[in-house]
Amino acid sequence: MRELEGKVAVVTGAASGIGRGLAERFAAEGMRVVLADVEVDPLQEVADALAARGAPVRAVPTDVSDADAVLDLATVTFEHFGTAHVVCNNAGVGGSSGPSWEIAQNAWDWTFGVNFWGVLHGIRAFVPRLLAQQEGHIVNTASLAGLTTIPFMAPYAATKHAVVGLSEALALELAMLGSPVKVSVLCPGFIRTRIHESERNWPARLGAPPPGLGNDLLAESVRATIAAGMDPADLADRVVAAIRDERFFILSDDDHAVLAQQRADDVRSGRQPRLAPPEAFGIPGAGT
Ligand SMILES: NC(=O)c1ccc[n+]([C@@H]2O[C@H](COP(=O)([O-])OP(=O)(O)OC[C@H]3O[C@@H](n4cnc5c(N)ncnc54)[C@H](O)[C@@H]3O)[C@@H](O)[C@H]2O)c1
Repeated sequence: MRELEGKVAVVTGAASGIGRGLAERFAAEGMRVVLADVEVDPLQEVADALAARGAPVRAVPTDVSDADAVLDLATVTFEHFGTAHVVCNNAGVGGSSGPSWEIAQNAWDWTFGVNFWGVLHGIRAFVPRLLAQQEGHIVNTASLAGLTTIPFMAPYAATKHAVVGLSEALALELAMLGSPVKVSVLCPGFIRTRIHESERNWPARLGAPPPGLGNDLLAESVRATIAAGMDPADLADRVVAAIRDERFFILSDDDHAVLAQQRADDVRSGRQPRLAPPEAFGIPGAGT
């Protein structure tokens, strides 16, 4: 999709981080923007900030883990703007850390609910409408964690691999059906956001959060790395370029592809997956 001006973008997880960066960039392109997030006040703040710059925006409080809420998001979008062109299924949480067999069931449910089902709900709600209008581009946020192997964060890693697999299937299905609707999967390394504070959105309906959620040693090391990460605005530049160029995989650094290559080498040799070296993620000061 070369021309974005006047078109409609929908972004989930738009109240913070990557989603906010995408929404700001789409507005700067002259797009009309629908912002969705479970955090109502920050969502309205982003909507007000974009509206103050003259962007036509609509904020729709949405819990993406709720299929009906995402169907409602699509309905409101089409009622308000009459169409949607770019749909970013981006909302996500960092999940729980620890050995995979010890992570509580409700922590797995939370992470899959937002990171995987949230993306699938977006696909189910919007793709039929994009197919009908014969135009659109879906951008699903996975992670570099979906292309490589991350121990002690198994729910996060598993959901991100699932989003990559889902996005690949979707892209092939649309291509095989001859649809002009395109798909990209966003697989960033570390980006400066509030992902390490995801526990702020723990849903009460899942009961008490696991003890130590967001407060353990792993979270502490992730926190420092995230703080030194890429600016979401720079990632948004790459997303917009990928939409224009119809690129499927979107990385935050082209060199991260070496991790997918390492994985392919392990598959070929039958080797157990190797832990990606920290410097491969661009972690500052992590050289060997
Ligand atoms: N920050 C990174 O280093 C990084 C790297 C790779 C991938 N990602 C992915 O990027 C996406 C955005 O995360 P971020 O880093 O901007 O974090 P963030 O916490 O700054 O933003 C995530 C947004 O999602 C929202 N959200 C959480 N649960 C939700 C729900 N149930 N329904 C709707 N919205 C919900 C939050 O309120 C928040 O506004 C996630 O999918 C994350 O996994 C982040």
